[in-house]
Amino acid sequence: MSKITTIERFILDNQPQYARGDFTALLYDLALAAKVIAHKVNRAGLVNILGEAGGVNVQGEDQQKLDVYADDVIYRLCDHTGRLCIMASEEHEELLEIPARHKKGNYVLVYDPLDGSSNIDVNVSIGTIFGIYRCLDPDNRGRLEDVLQPGRNLIGAGYILFGSSTMMVYSTGKGVHGFTLDPEIGEFLLSNEDMKVPDPPSYYSVNSSYYSHWSPGVKRFLRWLQGQEADSPPPLSSRYIGSLVADFHRNLLRGGIFCYPAENSKPNGKIRLLYEAAPLAFLMKQAGGYASDGYQSILDIEPTDPHQRTPFFAGNLSLVKKVEQFLAAEEPEMA
Ligand code: AHG
Ligand code: MN
Ligand code: MN
Repeated sequence: MSKITTIERFILDNQPQYARGDFTALLYDLALAAKVIAHKVNRAGLVNILGEAGGVNVQGEDQQKLDVYADDVIYRLCDHTGRLCIMASEEHEELLEIPARHKKGNYVLVYDPLDGSSNIDVNVSIGTIFGIYRCLDPDNRGRLEDVLQPGRNLIGAGYILFGSSTMMVYSTGKGVHGFTLDPEIGEFLLSNEDMKVPDPPSYYSVNSSYYSHWSPGVKRFLRWLQGQEADSPPPLSSRYIGSLVADFHRNLLRGGIFCYPAENSKPNGKIRLLYEAAPLAFLMKQAGGYASDGYQSILDIEPTDPHQRTPFFAGNLSLVKKVEQFLAAEEPEMA
């Protein structure tokens, strides 16, 4: 019989040396949040049917939107444990303080509670993305500075993908590991140990309806990916779900590049640096790939605002380096 490794066992066995238990427990808190959110996500399509039948929804309460629900679950499961000093969520303008009645811990959690929200109502994969930093000053915990750290300071990051099955994928700086939720026993089991982005790559993912808004370098890079430039490699196939976390996951497993470039009227693109780009850049690096804003590593960007956006290219190192090359060489388009 093959060995079955639960996420708890794996987290404990791979605990970094400096971890005194809190960091390990925080990862397990997030795995628990993943299960709670997965339960709700899996019932999303039933809400109207059951709600209409009884006049009220199953729980007898006002139906919350799933992204608000996911946001709430993560905050409530993490606000009282003494492991975090502050949190920041894509859903909140303000930082999420730890209530004064609870002890503040050593770690900082940033998260996108539900990524791909336009796909919630159409039964297409969505996910949760998170990043973990260490608090900068143990004598002064939970300041804005703790949140505004560059991605290179991340000590852990991951995502939960609500797809054909629910998966939790994370890294603490020693490879990227994937766990699949067994709904029968309610536990995440190790399914993808030490994931590496394969080469040659298979896919590129971009919303090409924005083509006319891109710079000449980005346009040229896309033509290069499609096999239309003189030095193009064999063309990649195109796949775009519109849930970053799902597009990222597919490209991590199959090789490829996700692009959300700057646009003429949106110089920072759409992807949020803190909640989406930096955690995924950390994972991509651990998987042997690379993530860039087109000019520099995402992990080197010093954030100035928790909600700032960044152009985002993530995938095989050779592909992301190529877009940097095209952007560095680009000449302004003639008016
Ligand atoms: P969120 O649902 O957290 O707001 O993020 C949506 C993001 C990302 O998941 C996806 O890649 C992108 O929006 C899709 O945007 P376009 O519809 O502009 O392609
Ligand atoms: Mn998102
Ligand atoms: Mn979101």
